[in-house]
Amino acid sequence: MVGAARVSTYAGGVTVDSSSEVLAGLDSWRDLTAHQQPSWPDAGELARVSVELSQQPPLVFAGEADRLRERMAAAGRGEAFVLQGGDCAETFAELTADNIRDKVKTILQMAVVLTYGASMPIVKMGRMAGQFAKPRSSDTETRDGLTLPAYRGDIINGFEFTPEARMPDPHRLLEAYRNSASTLNLIRAFTQGGFADLRQVHEWNRGFMANRSYSAYDAFAREIDRAIRFMQAAGADFDALKTVEFYSSHEGLLLDYERPLTRVDSRTGEPYACSGHFLWVGERTRQLDGAHVEFFSRVRNPLGVKLGPTTTGADAIALMDRLNPDGEPGRLTFITRMGAGRIRDVLPTLVEEVTADGRPVTWICDPMHGNGITSENGYKTRRFSDVIDEVRGFFDVHRSLGTVPGGLHVELTGDDVTEVLGGTEAIDDLGLTRNYTTLVDPRLNHQQSLEMAFLVAEMLRES
Ligand code: PEP
Ligand code: CO
Repeated sequence: MVGAARVSTYAGGVTVDSSSEVLAGLDSWRDLTAHQQPSWPDAGELARVSVELSQQPPLVFAGEADRLRERMAAAGRGEAFVLQGGDCAETFAELTADNIRDKVKTILQMAVVLTYGASMPIVKMGRMAGQFAKPRSSDTETRDGLTLPAYRGDIINGFEFTPEARMPDPHRLLEAYRNSASTLNLIRAFTQGGFADLRQVHEWNRGFMANRSYSAYDAFAREIDRAIRFMQAAGADFDALKTVEFYSSHEGLLLDYERPLTRVDSRTGEPYACSGHFLWVGERTRQLDGAHVEFFSRVRNPLGVKLGPTTTGADAIALMDRLNPDGEPGRLTFITRMGAGRIRDVLPTLVEEVTADGRPVTWICDPMHGNGITSENGYKTRRFSDVIDEVRGFFDVHRSLGTVPGGLHVELTGDDVTEVLGGTEAIDDLGLTRNYTTLVDPRLNHQQSLEMAFLVAEMLRES
């Protein structure tokens, strides 16, 4: 009987009896179509894993998600700007301390540049500590006559093209949980333990600028340097700038993971998805009558929905009806991913119709997922120039409508990978062969990420 179940709360492993209505609601998605889910071979094993997951401590706390909702609301009003970045797909093998550090470092470095450009706080969010499940265009993959299940991310199956690796394995849910916990632990240590000190992040940026290839950004970098020296001279409290808020986020794709990690907050009796602070629903799973929208309508986290170029104003408004009927500021973010070639045509009407509705949303630009191409030599890639052009289009459209460009959603890594064409390093088709390591989508490397921060900072300043 559902009403008798006990759900552990967000704090200290305390448990409370929760109302049957809340609990029943959390399972309403099970009657609906959930796209992009694996076919688990053994339902009994999945059920055992679900029970184990539901007994684990939450990864994030309700109060943190509430605070992020306020930050997202500020971004929607033009009082903050969101920077959300990380891998397309995290992998268990790549979750080393160095990789996590370098990704956090890249985001912090970008954030300092953007803070200066925007003259606003930057809301820092990783596509980290849970970004393990991927939607795929096909359920299967065929190589040399052998057909196997498609790779759906490390939380579901392995990338290696063997029947064993590609078989969905529910134990990977537990492995994803543990990997998310250790990633979050490091993120919390890095962002609270002195690593994020503004003066140190500024020194890293000076190191980047020491490479003369980036001299186009010299004037801007010098201004930031002067601003920091001014703060120092004026006696700013740099000790207060040693720690930063840093939030985790991922696509809320795999409902067999999200549901058992949902906890009822003992303060309010309301459920939170405790796998991450911010969850978004992807372009391929945002059906109004689908399981994802239903499930996420029931949790209190700040939410995102990806909107591609075919989205109509009516679609967006219907999503607001489902996910934010009362128009709570910061609750709902639309992450637009239109493609550089289309954003100026399709975004204006969408934004106008949503704005006319009156309920607030936060608009974020994902300049990655509408700009995929295949290089001559067969790599899945994107052009840095297209990525930047889509961001410029995003700013242009919002400026011309008097609405607020609230942030940026990017696939990036702290490493020196060669996955995206162009940038000052001028990675070309041949360059892609040098260090292309992503299993899914191509990411901006460390240098391209910083370069993007300078370019976007200039766009922010133009406002
Ligand atoms: C992603 O963010 O990696 C992704 C799959 O995006 P979208 O849902 O926008 O295609
Ligand atoms: Co991606």
